[in-house]
Amino acid sequence: SWTTGSVIDEQVEAIRAQVGDKRAICGLSGGVDSAVAAALVQKAIGSQLTCVYVDHGLMRKGETEQVEKDFVAATGANLKVVDASERFLTALAGVSDPETKRKIIGREFIRVFEQAQLEILQEDGPEVAFLVQGTLYPDIVESGGGTGTANIKSHHNVGGLPDDIEFELVEPLRQLFKDEVRMVGQELGLPAEIVQRQPFPGPGLGIRIVGEVTKDRLDLLREADAIAREELTAAGLDSEIWQCPVVLLADVRSVGVQGDGRTYGHPIVLRPVSSEDAMTADWTRMPYDVLARISTRITNEVADVNRVVLDVTSKPPGTIEWE
Ligand code: XMP
Repeated sequence: SWTTGSVIDEQVEAIRAQVGDKRAICGLSGGVDSAVAAALVQKAIGSQLTCVYVDHGLMRKGETEQVEKDFVAATGANLKVVDASERFLTALAGVSDPETKRKIIGREFIRVFEQAQLEILQEDGPEVAFLVQGTLYPDIVESGGGTGTANIKSHHNVGGLPDDIEFELVEPLRQLFKDEVRMVGQELGLPAEIVQRQPFPGPGLGIRIVGEVTKDRLDLLREADAIAREELTAAGLDSEIWQCPVVLLADVRSVGVQGDGRTYGHPIVLRPVSSEDAMTADWTRMPYDVLARISTRITNEVADVNRVVLDVTSKPPGTIEWE
């Protein structure tokens, strides 16, 4: 019968058999799946695993610290953190189009991750032959079966390595559903902030700023988002709400009044949705008093925001994210 403990024991044994005395790499995204996959592999092979976290500067408040400090404290994993935030900001400068932003973020992410992989390959030690991925059962069903290997191409500026390195995939979550992954993560001692985290897009806050992405705008949105999350959690709404994107309309300004002065600031959009699988969604009928608290706090505490608006569109026709 299925128990969290038996799944862990079974996977630990399978991972040890697969990896042997070679080494493995795992990319951490800050999300549940990669964190639980990494924790399982860490339990199985310890220091033969190196985790890589690319900090693209588009994470929410506290999320990078959760990976750098709390994940490492809970698992004892080797973690290589690459601070690439300047690189991402430079690549995104002047770009407002959503698809272009997504392409740039995806491209830069792969480049930075591959560079980190090559650095790990150059370290002394056993051969690095495996790449850990947090693929879940529904991912496999949707894509019609896994691929089994991943290629990495070396870059011109790194000498002495083969042109094309093939990793074998380690996918310890491929029989599990999301709720089971959370139980495994909890059993492995991962912090609740990681295990219970709601879905968050790979391109991060980069696609929650309508307009150009800048450092100042990211800092502003991070503050507004942190307030909304704090109030939703305090109100006990985390399980009712699938996710609640907080969006900055950076190119929109409206007139407001504060103290004895006129303001001309930006609106923040709250997008709380209820959903089973993100394919369809409805806007969450949230208590007015919670909305009021979020609105009051954001307009008082976040400079340059003088209006909070609520998105009352279902999906379809709206998507969950604004970009
Ligand atoms: P939409 O906006 O299409 O979002 O209704 C559906 C779900 O997917 C998430 N999302 C992403 N997740 N990378 C991800 O890992 C992405 O590029 C991405 N874009 C959207 C979104 O947050 C929602 O849960």
